[in-house]
Amino acid sequence: MSNISRRTFLKGLGAALVVVAGGTVYRAVDNGVFSVGQGPAYEPWRNWREATGTLALVSAAILAANPHNRQPWLFRVTDNSISVYVDHSRNVGKVDPFYREIRMGVGAALENLMLAAEPNGYQAELTLAPDPDDETYAAEIALTSTTPASSELYEAIPNRRTNRAAYDRSRTVDGSFFEAMTNLNTSEDLEVFWFTTPEEHARFSQATVDATAAFTSDPEQNHDSESFFRTDWQDIQANRDNLTIDAQNLPPVATAFVKILPFEPEGTVAQIFRDNTRDVHCATAAAFGIVATRSDRDLKQHLECGMLYQRIHLWATTQGLAMQPLSQLRERVDREAELGIEPRFTEESAALLGTNEWQGTMPFRIGYPTVDPNLSPRRAVEDVLI
Ligand SMILES: Cc1cc2nc3c(=O)[nH]c(=O)nc-3n(C[C@H](O)[C@H](O)[C@H](O)COP(=O)(O)O)c2cc1C
Repeated sequence: MSNISRRTFLKGLGAALVVVAGGTVYRAVDNGVFSVGQGPAYEPWRNWREATGTLALVSAAILAANPHNRQPWLFRVTDNSISVYVDHSRNVGKVDPFYREIRMGVGAALENLMLAAEPNGYQAELTLAPDPDDETYAAEIALTSTTPASSELYEAIPNRRTNRAAYDRSRTVDGSFFEAMTNLNTSEDLEVFWFTTPEEHARFSQATVDATAAFTSDPEQNHDSESFFRTDWQDIQANRDNLTIDAQNLPPVATAFVKILPFEPEGTVAQIFRDNTRDVHCATAAAFGIVATRSDRDLKQHLECGMLYQRIHLWATTQGLAMQPLSQLRERVDREAELGIEPRFTEESAALLGTNEWQGTMPFRIGYPTVDPNLSPRRAVEDVLI
């Protein structure tokens, strides 16, 4: 099923049903068509409150948003401290040549970890990037005991998901919500930009659609992106990481089709990626946002950016809003810097923000959901301890 066109993909949906009726039910079961979100790979979403002591904070941390679901984090835990590291071996190749995204994923995990401190009876003191000579040493957290108290954002941790389905085109997001999300930022090195008018919507969409075309036309970048996509159910349950078909939230019949038939990610994923970015992700978004950083390469700012993105996403979850990062524009900016090629998207990104003083580090869309998105797998806490 390589290089499948969108039309043949949709036409094939009928065939998927015939295949099921024609005796390939075994393959449907084998590939988890009937067990979405079940099995050990999804347990961390359900048992995250069972851990005790400082491990309870790590159980919350690993449920954070992170690039390509690579889960690029490592934790060293004692009774009164947690050291957090960026695992460079888990970056997404040419999608993330400067480790920007994996640092943001670790930042998102730090946000969950900090939110989990008080509910578990800890007062946490966070130091970001504690060693200027070690770019993998993300944070040191000192823990002392305090009276437990929960919070709305903490309670939202298991309910947050990246929602890649269509959003409800008939609903706009109230202006006061953008203000509330902007106010979640406490760092002078970050700024949140919103794209809410029809003109701003069109400009963000066009830049993202163009960047997606450039991304999928870049053989190395596209290959590295697709190589962190798991299609085999046993493989997902064994490794518990990376992107999955279920997490794409394609329409249910399309998901079953892709899961049942022999699947060649190369080419197929690129086609779906381009079509969905244009026709679903951009076309149905109520609005777009970009979390911007002052610097392009600063570890601390990338961690803070990830923390703020996670905080915004958790807050949006409490309000019944859906979100999805749309990183293609930013990933092309990094690729241009890496290769020293024409800075087309670097200029488009600056034009979108209307300034060269901020770097458009974390672009995303927001809106009201039309479906409950599926879970992404997670590795067990034991697998991310050092
Ligand atoms: C820095 C960063 C970049 C991301 N970029 C994208 C993206 O471009 N498109 C997308 O669909 N999801 C993107 N994501 C979302 C992750 O793929 C998602 O968080 C991960 O697969 C885990 O799924 P979950 O958020 O539902 O737990 C990004 C997340 C982070 C932290």
